[in-house]
Amino acid sequence: MQTQAPDLEYFAALAALEWQIELGADCAILDQPLDCYDLPDQLDKPRLPEPVAAAPARPAAPVAVPAGPDPVVVARQAAGAAASLTALREAIEGYDLCDLKKGARSTVFADGNPAARVMIIGEAPGRDEDQQGKPFVGRAGQLLDRMFAAIGLARATPDAQAALYITNVLPWRPPGNRDPEPAEIAQMLPFLTRHVELAGPDLIVLMGNAACAAALGQRGILRLRGTWTEAFGRPALPMTHPAYLLRTPAAKREAWADLLALRARLIGG
Ligand code: URA
Repeated sequence: MQTQAPDLEYFAALAALEWQIELGADCAILDQPLDCYDLPDQLDKPRLPEPVAAAPARPAAPVAVPAGPDPVVVARQAAGAAASLTALREAIEGYDLCDLKKGARSTVFADGNPAARVMIIGEAPGRDEDQQGKPFVGRAGQLLDRMFAAIGLARATPDAQAALYITNVLPWRPPGNRDPEPAEIAQMLPFLTRHVELAGPDLIVLMGNAACAAALGQRGILRLRGTWTEAFGRPALPMTHPAYLLRTPAAKREAWADLLALRARLIGG
């Protein structure tokens, strides 16, 4: 039997594990059932190192506050100075004060037609988006495309009436696809605000909780969805995120109602 090179085995196993986690797995099932409540009796407890004699207490040193620019202020200045979408993309690519950037392969800026009447704001790139450098290209993105195609909208359309423009609250993938932290949202919000100003959509779709947190300062998408509100000075419709719809197919009926509300608003003016 041919054996795989150890590196390949490692990366294949890591990819398989990431895939399981993305599907929602949060604990490993072993060949033999294991009663977690009995764990302390079943497992050999790791030996703790012998305690080392405590060092004599020293007076506490004053805590140093890291000097440096306020990341939100820097973001606001950089975003405000961008006079075009190209300049804004460059400003984001040049912004080094968000740690997410260090772990990401790509800066995911936007996709679709910037002249579109409808702008969709998602959460953050996932693995596929990080690899391809475009928002919503994985499974959730494919569902998003099908959803909007059902009301006659598509990202690759030159006609602004029928087009979509898509971005995210965060341009960098959070490690392990964890939820964006409030500080990360606050840091990147000036860029998002400027992005909306420069694209100038008629209507905004806020896809999921992170988009609502950034644009409305509110969470609770299941309560917010389907009710028109205002974000960045424009009409905005919160909707459940397609990743949620993949996990909860029963919620697709409400998402369809929201899509119809969007279409009615587009036709109405
Ligand atoms: N989910 C998002 O919110 N954005 C993406 O780009 C992909 C998945």
